[in-house]
Amino acid sequence: MDAARATQPTPRVINLEGDDRFVPTEVLRGAYIHYAESQNPSAPPFVRFEAEGMEMGIVRSEVPEIARGVSSLLTRSLEDAKDEHGGHLPARIVERVQTDIISPHGVAHLWGTEGHRFVLSRAVDRTTSEMVATILVARRKGTIFFFTGRYNNIRHSTIEETVDFDQPAGTNPEQKWFAQFAFPRPIQFKPPAFHHIANFVVAKEHRGKRLSRFFLDALLAKYARDRMVARGNPIEHSQYLLCGRGFWQIGDPPWLVRMERLGFELRWGAESFFLEHDWAPLPAIHDDQGRCISNLAYNRSFGLPERYEGTTPARPSELHLLERVPEVMRLAQDPRAKLQYFQTMFHFT
Ligand SMILES: CC(C)(COP(=O)(O)OP(=O)(O)OC[C@H]1O[C@@H](n2cnc3c(N)ncnc32)[C@H](O)[C@@H]1OP(=O)(O)O)[C@@H](O)C(=O)NCCC(=O)NCCS
Repeated sequence: MDAARATQPTPRVINLEGDDRFVPTEVLRGAYIHYAESQNPSAPPFVRFEAEGMEMGIVRSEVPEIARGVSSLLTRSLEDAKDEHGGHLPARIVERVQTDIISPHGVAHLWGTEGHRFVLSRAVDRTTSEMVATILVARRKGTIFFFTGRYNNIRHSTIEETVDFDQPAGTNPEQKWFAQFAFPRPIQFKPPAFHHIANFVVAKEHRGKRLSRFFLDALLAKYARDRMVARGNPIEHSQYLLCGRGFWQIGDPPWLVRMERLGFELRWGAESFFLEHDWAPLPAIHDDQGRCISNLAYNRSFGLPERYEGTTPARPSELHLLERVPEVMRLAQDPRAKLQYFQTMFHFT
């Protein structure tokens, strides 16, 4: 890390440096984005919460100190998802994401270019700030940050043209990349007008203090246009507002419980699965005691198919994929299928 750090401002390395979340306040303030067409152009390009000693704003993620700080928050958090640490992912997958997606280089140049990178921070002393939480929100409502490991930053409206659904997985043309996944139909993959969110993380040192709730509430109160209009909230900053209907998340299975606690709702029938083939075996799955478990047991541990038996969505809407629910229930009971992601939504109004 040190050699790479010395020569590159945003290196493509696994960044487990906890102290990177501390940055000079001057650098943080300089990284906030000022939106020239803001309806309140003379306001500061961030929001302060005096009582809590906090501030939040959209930063330029290519600022090296910011990229490293955000990378550190995300990388240290994802480390816990390794199965050797009791998490749900093989170490090799985690390390690929840590290197390619959430390294300082990834934060600065991959999804960050298509998203608003929000940072919540607290003042440590007169000159130092600590980044305590972050979230990436797609600027455009049609952006999908990732679609399998092979596509980043695609637009939902052109998904069928952008994505080669017939591509081979490797050298054998008979073995197709997309045969390894069961997804909703491309046209229905994303709910229209919802902003894709990713990288929603609270620093490990600050978990369990309701900070994620505070962050989310602040984001909605100060940046979600329709909610602000509905509640008569003034625009207190000179940054962008979020003009979509809500947030949309493609979430790892263990996240569903926490996201539901925060007010996100499951998008019914939008689950995706890995499909195992002789030529594409899936890595062994371990439970939190380290014992090997089957795909079926894994699916069941996240309530599938039971969660869909004899119930209807709490908030019925056209955004759910109700007609796909039977297919999800069938997949959940297919020994070759392993739950990959849930989708969740959060409505601004
Ligand atoms: C999920 C996360 C953002 C929550 O942040 P936090 O500030 O510690 O959470 P809060 O203290 O604000 O708690 C918010 C709610 O979530 C619940 N919650 C938090 N962590 C949880 C967990 N690991 N499992 C289940 N529920 C959890 C809390 O009980 C609380 O619900 P309640 O108010 O009804 O009791 C944080 O744990 C984190 O960064 N996790 C790793 C990354 C991640 O999973 N991100 C989510 C998907 S992008």
